Amino acid sequence: MQLRNTPTGYGLVAIAFHWVMAVLMIGLFAVGKYMTGLDPMAPETFAIYQWHKSFGFLVLALAVARLAWRVANPAPRLPAALPAWQRWAAHLGHAGLYAVLIALPVTGWLMVSASPWGIPTVVFDVLPIPHLPVGEAFGTKAETEKVFMALHEYAGFLLLALFVAHVAAALKHHFLDRDDVLARMLSPRPARAPDADADTDAASSLRASGD
Ligand code: HEM
Ligand code: HEM
Repeated sequence: MQLRNTPTGYGLVAIAFHWVMAVLMIGLFAVGKYMTGLDPMAPETFAIYQWHKSFGFLVLALAVARLAWRVANPAPRLPAALPAWQRWAAHLGHAGLYAVLIALPVTGWLMVSASPWGIPTVVFDVLPIPHLPVGEAFGTKAETEKVFMALHEYAGFLLLALFVAHVAAALKHHFLDRDDVLARMLSPRPARAPDADADTDAASSLRASGD
């Protein structure tokens, strides 16, 4: 089983992190937008908010683990033919996506910590999470909550923008460039492929030796 990344593809761990977290982020974004339109006094609304918070903390824990895995597992090489500006765009976009994976749960955590309601967060009804010591950093508690609420909403817009560009880039690679950039995020098989450069080196040394 190919767990680790190689120069030619992603391993199973990176692929699992990617898709589990993609589903969680899309779901949390949709639920976040939906729940803010509900009657704040209805008991179902309270329950949905608690689920949103629990899954949000799950994302935070996964994001920390994923970043640690990423540090120990460099990403596979981008296709050699890719122009320099697209390499930069890819790196910038991925860095931005990692940033929102952290910024969304953290601004959510700051928001509920500042709230004058003081509602406790107990992840999936088992793990109590302490409030962060934000006090009345921006005026009253309610004003402080508003600042973090706005930051949470802006981080959501940033996620949406990055997500649209990210999916468009993935589809462009697959259907226009016809390279394996999307395929290697779907399966660890390309990670097991013989290293393209090593192959070329071997082939050229064979040619050089006249075989
Ligand atoms: C990790 C991924 C998360 C995503 C993608 C996400 C996304 C969203 C979005 C899109 C909204 C609607 C914002 C608006 O239009 O006003 C929202 C609202 C909210 N989120 Fe999150 N969220 C995440 C994590 C969290 C966490 C960890 C918490 C708390 C610990 C949290 C607490 C809230 C609360 C309380 C609201 C309602 C704000 C209001 O009443 O306007 N979120 N979230
Ligand atoms: C909100 C959802 C998503 C988030 C947060 C996200 C995040 C990321 C991140 C951080 C990376 C960089 C991985 C690394 O090299 O360390 C990545 C790579 C990738 N993502 Fe996503 N992604 C999301 C959804 C999607 C979707 C829906 C698709 C497909 C249509 C997709 C396709 C890809 C592909 C193909 C790569 C690999 C790019 C490469 O090999 O350089 N992602 N994603």
